[in-house]
Amino acid sequence: MNMDNGIPTKEEFVDQLAAAFSYFNANTEKLTNAYNKLEQEVARINAELEKKNNQLQQKITEIDHVRSHFENILHSMGTAVIAIDLNEKITVINRCAEELLGIDSSACAGRPFGQLVTLDKITSTGLSALLKSDQPLFEREAALLCKNGDSIAVGVSMSLIRNSKDDTIGYLLLLRDLREIKKLQAKARRADRLVALGEMAARVAHEIRNPLGGIEGFASLLVRILESDKENQRMAAYIMEGVKSVNHIVSSLLDYARPVHIKKSFFPIREIIYDVARMIETSPNIDKKNIKIIAEFNGDNDPVMYADRVLTQQIIWNLLVNSIQAMDHPGDVVISCGKRGPLKHAVEDSTLLYHENSFVHDDSMYFYGFGEATWNTGEIHFWNVLSVTDQGTGIDPQIKDKIFYPFYTTRENGTGLGLSTVYKIIEEHGGKISVKSQAGRGACITLYFPGEVPVQEEVSR
Ligand SMILES: Nc1ncnc2c1ncn2[C@@H]1O[C@H](COP(=O)(O)OP(=O)(O)OP(=O)(O)O)[C@@H](O)[C@H]1O
Ligand SMILES: [Mg+2]
Repeated sequence: MNMDNGIPTKEEFVDQLAAAFSYFNANTEKLTNAYNKLEQEVARINAELEKKNNQLQQKITEIDHVRSHFENILHSMGTAVIAIDLNEKITVINRCAEELLGIDSSACAGRPFGQLVTLDKITSTGLSALLKSDQPLFEREAALLCKNGDSIAVGVSMSLIRNSKDDTIGYLLLLRDLREIKKLQAKARRADRLVALGEMAARVAHEIRNPLGGIEGFASLLVRILESDKENQRMAAYIMEGVKSVNHIVSSLLDYARPVHIKKSFFPIREIIYDVARMIETSPNIDKKNIKIIAEFNGDNDPVMYADRVLTQQIIWNLLVNSIQAMDHPGDVVISCGKRGPLKHAVEDSTLLYHENSFVHDDSMYFYGFGEATWNTGEIHFWNVLSVTDQGTGIDPQIKDKIFYPFYTTRENGTGLGLSTVYKIIEEHGGKISVKSQAGRGACITLYFPGEVPVQEEVSR
């Protein structure tokens, strides 16, 4: 150092610069190392982040998968599922519930349950009270009132939805459509009743037949003996008439009680219709009241049926006679026959079967079906359809379920066995019956026989 002015000498300055450089270099190296380390750390964190991201993505996909799986299960359930929060607002609703209630899930999410669904008879205090009671419920039968005024029988179950802390956060309602079960129960009840009635009818008919034969014999003897006493002879003739009428009832009873064994064959239905019409024409016991029987053959001039020929004749007789008896003025009774596709279409097309002055509205149509399994399965390729339409009194909706019961009659001299015999025969054929009617204007009873195609063989050479 220059002692005079304190300025470092050149050598000193070079040394200091070298020291500074070396310090700078050392720090630069440190910084570079630190930077490299940082870079490595960032890369490691990035890699970890990417791994975590992938795991997260995988988890989201899994959750999506599980959620859609549960949604599929929920929507595929045959039971209506509705989740409600504590404010009784709908939070979840499955497809079955949408169909049953006739509402769209998008329209009902968040809306109060009570605004959309009316459950009758669920409790005397209503659903709201039931929810508040916090008591689970298992299959209580109730009537679900639909918007169109219909009432559907449902089984209602209710359970509480709880969170992980065991607090109640909502309610889960399950509604099971009981219509099909009710139908099957009614069918089973009817079958039981028919068996019992059949057995009783057969026994009573046999018991009555013998004394009746004796009464008839003695009455005819009396008629002969009292040749000279006209007044008393008339009385004896009344006895014979009464016996004839009881005999008719007994024969119908026996006919009804006899088990039906059907023998199916192919035959032209036109022939049978003409035979029955002729029999009615010549029957002294039927008041024809100037009623015309008109046959209509839809699409096929000489349709071939596959059924029991004799029993089909009996069915046609029963239906035509009922129609004539239901009319108290001259008019037409139209018997139509034709072939129809799978039943769903047969039902839709059934209006085609009616006379062109058709009066019957669709909302008055009732179905009586047997062998439900074949309803939609396409096992039956077509149906032979036979319908009888009249312009008579019509069938009161209140008795529509009873007209096929044995002994149900509204006619003074009826036995009430005509339609129950038709029912039994159609049941044996695996067929179906529909009834359309309008009070005061007429009725139309349609029978569906499962069709069969005749085997064709070439016989010419
Ligand atoms: N075409 C119809 N129009 C109006 N009501 C009908 C018709 N067919 C049947 N019914 C009603 O159904 C009831 C039952 O008919 P069903 O043929 O079984 O017995 P019935 O005619 O009264 O007596 P039966 O046929 O044994 O002599 C009838 O009493 C009648 O009330
Ligand atoms: Mg009858």
